[in-house]
Amino acid sequence: MANVAVIGAQWGDEGKGKVVDWLASRADVVVRFQGGHNAGHTLVVGNQTYKLSLLPSGLVRGKLGVIGNGVVVDPDALLSEIARVRAQGLIVTPETLRIADNAVLILPLHPALDKAREEARGERKIGTTGRGIGPAYEDKVARRAIRVADLAEPETLSAKLDELLLHYNTLLKGLGKEPFSKNILLEGLLKLAPQILPFAEPVWERLDELRRAGKRILFEGAQAVMLDVDHGTYPFVTSSNTVAATAASGSGVGPSAVGFVLGIAKAYTTRVGSGPFPTELHDDIGRLLGERGHEFGTVTGRPRRCGWFDAAMVRQAVKIGGVHGLALTKLDVLDGLTELKICTGYQINGTFFRHLPAGQAAQAAAVPEYEVMEGWSGSSRGARSWADLPAQAVKYVRRIEELVEAPVTLVSTSPERDDTIMVRDPFEG
Ligand code: IMP
Repeated sequence: MANVAVIGAQWGDEGKGKVVDWLASRADVVVRFQGGHNAGHTLVVGNQTYKLSLLPSGLVRGKLGVIGNGVVVDPDALLSEIARVRAQGLIVTPETLRIADNAVLILPLHPALDKAREEARGERKIGTTGRGIGPAYEDKVARRAIRVADLAEPETLSAKLDELLLHYNTLLKGLGKEPFSKNILLEGLLKLAPQILPFAEPVWERLDELRRAGKRILFEGAQAVMLDVDHGTYPFVTSSNTVAATAASGSGVGPSAVGFVLGIAKAYTTRVGSGPFPTELHDDIGRLLGERGHEFGTVTGRPRRCGWFDAAMVRQAVKIGGVHGLALTKLDVLDGLTELKICTGYQINGTFFRHLPAGQAAQAAAVPEYEVMEGWSGSSRGARSWADLPAQAVKYVRRIEELVEAPVTLVSTSPERDDTIMVRDPFEG
């Protein structure tokens, strides 16, 4: 399989950055296909640390980056990110970055409504990143969104703003917030247009050409399967489809172009934001995982909730996401724990489930059933082969493979790029 899609198999923050960076160095083009600047990837290359939210990771490796039509693009955030990485020495030009002309734009009114709604939800808030992601996707399906290509058409912009403002100002006023002025928004967009339009094109055509020329494409997913708007823990999810199938529709290639699907999972579980989390730990072990794993959100800085590995959930993500192989990250964080637990299913109101059912109340009531394993006293940190791992750590990985019904094709044992056990190269299929 020439191409690879990388997706998160839990609730995000699985350590995709390191894996994507390694794969990007072996790809010709890296494509983002969903989400927006709610994602956060930290890439350490040499003595530079790059924090990317919207830009495809391949840019760090000098590879062509493509932002597909499935992404919601905040032009202000994009331009500031470009300025930030340029200051760090990266070359970002219309030769190295292409943006789908049919991608939806995030305007200042989107984060305003996102935050106002979260405030109004109070205790029942979703815990969004406040970046306007949800409202922008709502506009897309409601057929009122402003898209990249509209920046070249002032009259279209003006008419679409009228429609948008009718909707947004009504809602914002109802929530006790300041309405937006059309003139300010229009002027802002017209000023941004000459900076964004040089990057815009029908990316599907370029991807088709690259494919036919036998180039390797890496599809870089954001968020994760359990945050998928259809398959995740709805309504505590993001507003896009995060599964690998979206790599096709979100960039304009056919489903067969997606290739090998690599799911990324941490050796334990974390989540930011609200919503069900059956294996969450509120004790010293949970705190230890958070401290050792440096579990703070890249985008919002919020501490992540931590818990045991949930094999029932990852199995579900494997099936739904079409995962061919799993990359297991942060195994070293479990070093020294005397006992480890793996969730194999849930008791919900007296019935055993091997998956998380769709009902909101059922998800909230899920009590995990655990299999208990002995931990290891040695160190797995920095291991680069199975022989470097404590025997019990190998058993832990093997048990996870059995339970999630997918092979572990890569194990990451430290943030360093080379501290990786590579079982199978995803580009080789
Ligand atoms: P939104 O995507 O900002 O609408 O947030 C919806 C939910 O997805 C919240 O629980 C966020 O914390 C979560 N979320 C969004 N992006 C990420 C990510 O990149 N990693 C982890 N969680 C995320």
